[in-house]
Order: sequence, then C-alpha cells, then structure tokens
Amino acid sequence: MEGLPEIRYQAGNELDLQQVIELYVASTLGERRPVNDLARMKEMLERANLVWTAWEGELLVGIARSLTDFVYATYVSDLAVRVSHQRTGIGKELLRRTKTSAPQASLVLLAAPAAAEYYSKVGFEHMPRAWMLPANQPIR
Ligand SMILES: CC(C)(COP(=O)(O)OP(=O)(O)OC[C@H]1O[C@@H](n2cnc3c(N)ncnc32)[C@H](O)[C@@H]1OP(=O)(O)O)[C@@H](O)C(=O)NCCC(=O)NCCS
Repeated sequence: MEGLPEIRYQAGNELDLQQVIELYVASTLGERRPVNDLARMKEMLERANLVWTAWEGELLVGIARSLTDFVYATYVSDLAVRVSHQRTGIGKELLRRTKTSAPQASLVLLAAPAAAEYYSKVGFEHMPRAWMLPANQPIR
C-alpha cells in the first residue's frame, strides 16, 4: 500500500492571495473569515508576521497565520487544513512549527466551535479568563 503523499512545510507570507482564499474555503474556515473582501484578506496575509503553510506538490493544503512578538505571545489567528487532508497531522505540524519559531512565546487563539476539542487534544489549555471585544463593538 502507498503511504501518504509527502507534505512540504514553508514559512513566509509571500503567497498567492487567490490560492490562500481557495484554501480557506476548502477548509470551511472561509465561512468565518471575510473571504469575499479581497482588500481585507490581502492585509490579513501581508500583516501577519508568522505564516506557515503546508504543500502537497503545488497544492496549498494548510496554513497557520499568526501575529507574534516572537518572545511573549503568538496569536494564532487562522489555522486551516483542506477538508480532503484533515486528520492527517498537518494542523498539528503547522502548530508545532509556529511554536518552534518563537519558543519563548505562548500560543493564544480563539477556537472555532468545531475545533474546541482539537486544541485540548494537541496540548492547549482552556482559559476561561480569555476576553474578546468583537470588531463591531466600541469600548464603553
Ligand atoms: C481544526 C483543524 C485545523 C485540525 O487540523 P488537522 O490537520 O485536521 O488535525 P490533525 O491531523 O493535526 O489532528 C491532530 C489530532 O487531533 C484530532 N482532531 C482533528 N480535528 C479534530 C477536531 N475537530 N476535534 C477533535 N479532534 C480533532 C485528530 O484526530 C488527531 O488525533 P490523533 O493525533 O490522535 O490522531 C482542521 O480540521 C481544520 O482546518 N478545520 C476547519 C477550520 C477550522 O475550524 N479551523 C480552526 C479555526 S480556530
């Protein structure tokens, strides 16, 4: 029997925007990201300062898009693996590389409803004291 196709991992955000958007959609994360707002997606990609991607040949199969200071906190804004490639270890490897890129920093993130169990499985601790101000809400 043939093994799984080889997956190559790459750091950097110099990626084709359309390819990235197609991956968000193919992972289902696109349902919760502004994939139809190209200008916003472009900035999300360009301003992220720690991006790891996973490739099967020329096909983009996974992404971890983070913002980090490299010494204290890394916010993992998006983690997405193509549905056809999920549960083969790609998400975990993207997180491992994200962590290794900034070893002194804690990883923090907001889990999508379907991924809540996932993060505890790969070692994250649930923080009931985490707080978020949604983008459409002011400070009052
Ligand atoms: C969540 C996601 C990133 C996980 O990536 P993945 O490559 O499929 O997961 P991995 O192969 O790294 O899984 C690692 C382990 O977690 C388990 N796992 C994977 N997805 C899971 C889930 N949704 N719930 C619970 N466990 C899960 C795997 O079975 C595996 O267990 P094992 O080591 O015992 O075999 C991916 O499924 C995804 O892109 N989902 C849609 C988008 C999304 O919700 N992103 C998260 C935004 S916060």
